Amino acid sequence: MEEFRGLESMDELVSLCKRRGIVFPSSEIYGGINSCWDFGPLGAELKRNIKEAWWQATIRGRGDCVGADTSIIMHPEVWRASGHLENFTDPLVDCKVCKQRFRADHLQSDRCPTCGGELTAPRQFNLMFKTFLGPVEETAAIVYLRPETAQGIFAAYKTIMTTGRLKPPFGIGQIGKSFRNEVSPGNFIFRSREFEQMELEYFVHPEFAGKAFEEWVEIRYRWYLNLGVNPSKIRIREHRQDELAHYAKACVDIEYLFPFGWQEIEGIAHRGDYDLRQHQKFSGENLTYFDETTKERYLPVVIESSAGVDRTLLTFLADSYRVESERTVLQIHPTLAPVKAAVFPLAKKPELVERARAIEDELRRAFSVSYDEAGSIGRRYRRQDEVGTPFGITVDFQTIEDGTVTLRERDSMTQERVHVARLNELLAAKLKHNV
Ligand code: GAP
Repeated sequence: MEEFRGLESMDELVSLCKRRGIVFPSSEIYGGINSCWDFGPLGAELKRNIKEAWWQATIRGRGDCVGADTSIIMHPEVWRASGHLENFTDPLVDCKVCKQRFRADHLQSDRCPTCGGELTAPRQFNLMFKTFLGPVEETAAIVYLRPETAQGIFAAYKTIMTTGRLKPPFGIGQIGKSFRNEVSPGNFIFRSREFEQMELEYFVHPEFAGKAFEEWVEIRYRWYLNLGVNPSKIRIREHRQDELAHYAKACVDIEYLFPFGWQEIEGIAHRGDYDLRQHQKFSGENLTYFDETTKERYLPVVIESSAGVDRTLLTFLADSYRVESERTVLQIHPTLAPVKAAVFPLAKKPELVERARAIEDELRRAFSVSYDEAGSIGRRYRRQDEVGTPFGITVDFQTIEDGTVTLRERDSMTQERVHVARLNELLAAKLKHNV
């Protein structure tokens, strides 16, 4: 077995992401903007694959869940009903000397951590971004950018249930952007002000809520393991009563061990009937479900799974990062790998280039592939290893004679000779979705 070490500092990952254009600061030509990030070609592919894997496991692959895509800007009453206007706040303190601002609940002592100056008393700061709907900037038109996608699901729940003739237990999931004016963003893309969430709201009869909660914790934990996350670096942590969000009856976090410690990557919450009851009260709509069989009318309880796309992406990158004696490699699950195979002509000879390009074109119909003819073949393998490409396909003079190529595998670095005609089928089998 090759000796290796894992990720030791976030700087290593930030630098790889920058160097390879995976993730980098937004608006960089203007000096960047604090905690906003852009995903380049490889980052966009990786993100898309993560969302695809989630959607398959949580929506398409199940008979009891459906998808939705609700709007970011919603009726402002939604946020009154949900409790966000009142409760979605962080306690802030200012240093009277250096004027820096901190989250009171993140401070170790009652003096400024930067200059030791005296701090103001804590004030509540709402994390929702405000904007104006329509051309006239008046209070009546104030709306908010959603701080979670969940409320879009609750507000559309009745329509989706009725039009889809759904009956609890059923889930509605969605993936989309959320916005929070975080007081202390940081740790690369771990905490930012604009991020994406993958959320599932599972509606269930109150009697079965406890069981559904436990099942979803297990399903979600297994999802990370099935996608290759190291079991010793991921754990489930139950919230203490005093940590619970205003809506939650019980909550667990799925946490990952980053170089900056154990951190939440997903929350699974037993929300009781809080959300539907609140929306029923504020909207005046009856949100109960009537069971024709038992003749029972009830308000379903919600079990929620809420994961961050960006945090999940950071988890997969951090977890798969390996430094070996001769190379840096991302041993990322093939399902998630941004590029599935890279095609190389052994030398820049016209007949090899032409054949390699033809293979690339053929594979491109089904897979995300790349082509590279620059530098030694060893260097080209290293470049692909660093971004986690599971397969390398080398075209040489033997290819012209007998139609075979070298297929190199990223993790074992083993090479086998296979016929070009079998490439599509071989790759499909090796990349088969098994999660
Ligand atoms: N609907 C419930 C909800 O939004 P949350 O614990 O506030 O719960 C869920 O957020 C997930 O969203 C987190 O586990 C995290 O992955 C992601 N998330 C939350 N705030 C984030 C931020 N500022 N930057 C990146 N991801 C964030």
